Amino acid sequence: MARTIPYQPSLLRLLHGITAVLIPLAWLSGLVVLAKHDGRWVRLPFAVPGDWIDIHGSVGALLWPVALLFVVYAIGLGRARLRQAANAAALLGLVLAVGSGKLMQEDWLRTGQLDHLAYHLHLLAWMLITGAVIWHIGSVLRRGGVRLAASMAQLHVRENDGPRHWVSQLLQRR
Ligand code: HEM
Ligand code: HEM
Repeated sequence: MARTIPYQPSLLRLLHGITAVLIPLAWLSGLVVLAKHDGRWVRLPFAVPGDWIDIHGSVGALLWPVALLFVVYAIGLGRARLRQAANAAALLGLVLAVGSGKLMQEDWLRTGQLDHLAYHLHLLAWMLITGAVIWHIGSVLRRGGVRLAASMAQLHVRENDGPRHWVSQLLQRR
C-alpha cells in the first residue's frame, strides 16, 4: 500500500465532502420526522420540540443541488471509480434518496397521509442509502485503509487543480 495519502481532485473533494456532511444530517432529521409523524415504526421516548419536517426539508434543499452536481461529476469525470460496486451503490442510494425526497410534499405527514407511493419510496431509499454508505466506507477502508478515507478530507489543492480548472476538467471527459 502506498505510504503517501492519495491526491483527490478538489472538485470531487468539495462535492463529496458537502454530500457526506449533509447525508447524515438528512438521515438523522429524517429519523426524527419518522418518529414524530409516523408512529408505525419508531416512537420517541421523549418529546423533541421543533418543526422537524421543516428542518429536514431545509437540509434536503441544501443537499439536492450539490447531489445533482456530484452525480454529474461522478458519471462524467469519476466514471472509472464507479467500477467499484460500493461506490456505484453509494451513488445510486444518493440518487434514490434525493429523487424520492423531491417527490415528497411537506404536508403529507402533517395531515396523516402515510400511504403515498413517493413516501414509501423515500423510506426505502433511506434504508438503501444506509446500507450502501456502510458498504462504501467499508470498501474504502478495506482497499486503502484510513489513508484512502482521509484523502477525501484533505485540504491541500494542487496548483493546476483550483476552481479555475473545474469547468475545463468537466468538459474534458476521459
Ligand atoms: C438519508 C436519508 C434522507 C435523505 C437524503 C432525504 C432527502 C430529502 C430531500 C432531498 C428532500 C427534498 C427537499 C426539497 O424539496 O428541497 C426530502 C424531503 C422530505 N423528506 Fe427526506 N430524506 C431522507 C430521509 C427521510 C426520512 C427517514 C423521512 C421520514 C419520514 C423523510 C421525510 C421527508 C419529508 C416529510 C420531506 C418533505 C419535506 C419538505 O418538502 O419540506 N426523509 N428528503
Ligand atoms: C455519506 C454519503 C457518501 C456518499 C453518497 C458517497 C459517495 C461516493 C461516490 C459516488 C464516490 C465515487 C466518486 C466518483 O465516481 O468520482 C465516492 C468515492 C469515495 N468516497 Fe464516498 N460517499 C459518502 C461518504 C464517504 C465517507 C464518510 C468517506 C470516508 C470514510 C468516503 C470516502 C470516499 C473515498 C476515499 C472515495 C474514493 C474511492 C475510490 O477512489 O474508489 N465517502 N463516494
